[in-house]
Amino acid sequence: MNYDIRFPSVADLKRRARMRMPGFAFDYVDAGIDDEKCKARNRDAWHRVQLIPRYLRDVSAANLQTRLFGREYAMPFGVSPVGLGNMMWPGAERALARAAQLENIPYILSTFGTTALEEIAATAPDVCWFQLYVPKKEEVMEDLLRRARDANCHALVVTLDIPVGAKRNRELKNALKLPFAPTPKILRQCLARPAWLLRTLMHGAPDFATVARYREGANENLADFITRFNMHGVTRERLEKIRALWDGPMILKGLQHTEDLRAAAEIGVDGVIISNHGGRQLDAAPASAESLRAVPDEIRERLTLMADGGIRSGLDVIRAKALGAQAAFSGRAFFWGVGALGARGAAQVAGIFRDEMERALRQLGCGAFEKMDRSWLAD
Ligand SMILES: Cc1cc2nc3c(=O)[nH]c(=O)nc-3n(C[C@H](O)[C@H](O)[C@H](O)COP(=O)(O)O)c2cc1C
Repeated sequence: MNYDIRFPSVADLKRRARMRMPGFAFDYVDAGIDDEKCKARNRDAWHRVQLIPRYLRDVSAANLQTRLFGREYAMPFGVSPVGLGNMMWPGAERALARAAQLENIPYILSTFGTTALEEIAATAPDVCWFQLYVPKKEEVMEDLLRRARDANCHALVVTLDIPVGAKRNRELKNALKLPFAPTPKILRQCLARPAWLLRTLMHGAPDFATVARYREGANENLADFITRFNMHGVTRERLEKIRALWDGPMILKGLQHTEDLRAAAEIGVDGVIISNHGGRQLDAAPASAESLRAVPDEIRERLTLMADGGIRSGLDVIRAKALGAQAAFSGRAFFWGVGALGARGAAQVAGIFRDEMERALRQLGCGAFEKMDRSWLAD
């Protein structure tokens, strides 16, 4: 095994991350919306996907390669876009991008990342995808698309499931502001996590590195900036405009309804990430596994399906493939990894997933990820 066996699962990394990250940063990554039922539903639904093993066959190896938008990746698994990445662990985004490049898995950089898109694209030149929150101002959107193209980002991921800012109670209580303005409570939490604090002092306080240049005043707070920046509900017209401007692979993230999936196919996008934002936006939203299962065949023929939300193991990635996803992503697993182990946590998460995917495929009697399909489902 090429990972640290003292932390053999994502749950072990989460436990250690909690002891190393200040409370507000841990809450930021862990929180769901309202009663956090959608977040819990994501996990439960993957657990409910049962696969029937087939024996009487040679399973000396399992091939994990997957092809996405004209490129071979070593594993069918990647890093979901997560805003404010370096707040969870200083240098987290660069460490994850570097590990993704080494492992040859996709890394999706958030619009609200804390490392500039040009820097991440240079760190991960073969695997960097850029996630776009669609700005209200078209000239800002055009500038971001130009920058992503100039930096050679391989794919554009347009997130659609934030038409309104979320009220996440755990976050509200922490009263987080950007630029970073620590309250006495936040300060106490920082002092209780000296390794995090020391590295943050060395790295500098996290800020929105890619979009800071579009800020109006130097001291605009986080909520005001995001409210001013984002379109409140991305229209079909705007998506068509993005489609016309972006000639590489274009992916829509956060869709669940068949009507929206049909529109995506009509607009001519290349793929969708079925997602509910990790249960952070609408507590009544169905689990990603359920939404994936419900995608009609006519859409499956036209779009590359992918999924995220509650993916915590290699077996979950295999379950997602059985339901039709060509790749699965995780946000929290990777950030707990770096929270727990610093930069080496990125490779640790990839190593755990690789080991679990290989074992799951071989145990199932399936020699290649590509061959996993609905025929393995128990129901
Ligand atoms: C702390 C945090 C920040 C996030 N920020 C973004 C973001 O900037 N852009 C985006 O498209 N999705 C964002 N997401 C959603 C993730 O891309 C992804 O859909 C989600 O994390 C998947 O669920 P999981 O964390 O349970 O794996 C964020 C999620 C978390 C946990």
